[in-house]
Amino acid sequence: MAYAIIHLVFFISLFPLNALAQNNGTVAVGSIITASETSSPWLSPSQDFAFGFQPLKDKDLFLLSIWYNKIPEKTVVWYVNTIDPVPRGSKIELNSDFGLVLSDPQNQTLWNTEWILPDRVDHGFLNDTGNFILIGGSDNRRLWESFKLPADTLLPLQELEYGIDLISRQSETNFSRGRFYVRFQRDGNLVLTTKSVPTNVDDDAVYYQTKISDPLNSGYRIILNSNGAISLLKTNNQEEVILGSLSTSLPTSENYLRATIDFDGVFTLYYHPKISTANSKWSALWSVPDNICLSITGDKGSGACGFNSICNITNQRPNCECPEGYTLLDPNNKYGSCIPNFTPSCAKVEQLELYDLLVLKDIDWPLSDYEQIYPSNESVCRQACLQDCFCAVAIFRSNSCWKKKLPLSNGRVDTTLNAKAFIKYRKSAAP
Ligand SMILES: *[C@@H]1O[C@H](CO)[C@@H](O)[C@H](O)[C@H]1NC(C)=O
Ligand SMILES: *[C@@H]1O[C@H](CO)[C@@H](O)[C@H](O)[C@H]1NC(C)=O
Ligand SMILES: *[C@@H]1O[C@H](CO)[C@@H](O)[C@H](O)[C@H]1NC(C)=O
Ligand SMILES: *[C@@H]1O[C@H](CO)[C@@H](O)[C@H](O)[C@H]1NC(C)=O
Ligand SMILES: *[C@@H]1O[C@H](CO)[C@@H](O)[C@H](O)[C@H]1NC(C)=O
Ligand SMILES: *[C@@H]1O[C@H](CO)[C@@H](O)[C@H](O)[C@H]1NC(C)=O
Repeated sequence: MAYAIIHLVFFISLFPLNALAQNNGTVAVGSIITASETSSPWLSPSQDFAFGFQPLKDKDLFLLSIWYNKIPEKTVVWYVNTIDPVPRGSKIELNSDFGLVLSDPQNQTLWNTEWILPDRVDHGFLNDTGNFILIGGSDNRRLWESFKLPADTLLPLQELEYGIDLISRQSETNFSRGRFYVRFQRDGNLVLTTKSVPTNVDDDAVYYQTKISDPLNSGYRIILNSNGAISLLKTNNQEEVILGSLSTSLPTSENYLRATIDFDGVFTLYYHPKISTANSKWSALWSVPDNICLSITGDKGSGACGFNSICNITNQRPNCECPEGYTLLDPNNKYGSCIPNFTPSCAKVEQLELYDLLVLKDIDWPLSDYEQIYPSNESVCRQACLQDCFCAVAIFRSNSCWKKKLPLSNGRVDTTLNAKAFIKYRKSAAP
């Protein structure tokens, strides 16, 4: 009996706290989430979105993030790409002075939203749109919102203002800044561009660009519509669709939508049924560019894949492979650079005996040339590369021979060129 009463009291006192404390989306000042697998995130009223710590695969680290809460995949839609994942026991607190405060297990502050100062936060709110908002100040206005600090994803009703970029992650599971940017330009166009990692300084190739009809009225914001199109909001209050289409056959109210610059550089509008079944998954409604292998041609940077790698398009996604005689620099990153299995050397003159050439069709590495031979034929081209210790690869097409040096960039399969690649490799020492 006593046990039953204690049990009942326990049940009554805990249940409302856990289940009801936050199902209207409001987060009170003083609320804390600790990074662990069992901590409860803050939920939006519909519980479609959650804010908290996502455990990272294979590592005892957690990512401060917002994710889809009702689907098994828990896809992350927001994180801060300048802060590293945090160890177990780190905390996020809603504080009236500094807003959101992220601290490590030693109570060292790692990040906060102090730019709300001098206003004070009254409460937080996780909207059903996936936007986390800090409300406060003398007139209870929006002091900060996660929609204004996007990571790699735009959600429906989220706007991207001039000067703010979406930046890809390094890989599916590494949320550090990657090489691919979605940038909204002053002329009203949206461009996809690459940057060098980790400095993120140099602008490399623009590999996709929208074409708006009327650059004079260009406006300063774009928005992802609830039907999956991206529109420019013009200064004359009109909208111009710049990506996707307003007339889609997709039942958008039954699906979650997101536009993500993927770690492989393809900007994709994904949809996923809100009610998950066993085979539910994210599918693409549209994506750009059509062929990223051919669209990236920068005189700096490696191209869609790493240096010395070859990009082959498959269902509009880049597939990266090292040529024979080369292996991945980082075996866990097939999108990374490839290194030759030998150290090219000019020390010995016996080039012809040490090396041979592998022949590949329809492969090109534009822009790594250091010498052109014209006119040429296949046997002249082969000999020229074999006898030249600087030559790593020779491309033969249209009676020309291009000698190329390492590292090779922008490697791609291109069936329109009718090209042949001769790739130098070192013959094994054995007979
Ligand atoms: C949400 O719930 C909290 C605590 O129960 C309450 O103070 C707040 O007014 C509610 N907010 C809304 C928008 O209903
Ligand atoms: C961190 O701060 C909390 C609350 O102020 C305190 O209880 C805890 O002991 C502190 N931890 C460390 C490692 O200083
Ligand atoms: C939540 O989002 C909707 C749609 O954008 C908006 O109308 C509403 O004002 C937002 N709620 C708050 C508290 O900002
Ligand atoms: C992500 O990649 C960066 C750069 O390659 C690396 O420094 C960092 O440790 C990686 N992060 C994780 C969590 O593996
Ligand atoms: C490129 O991929 C296609 C399949 O999408 C495959 O048939 C073809 O052999 C690949 N080309 C090379 C050179 O790997
Ligand atoms: C290639 O060109 C060289 C030099 O012009 C010539 O001697 C040779 O016969 C040509 N080979 C073929 C296969 O045409």
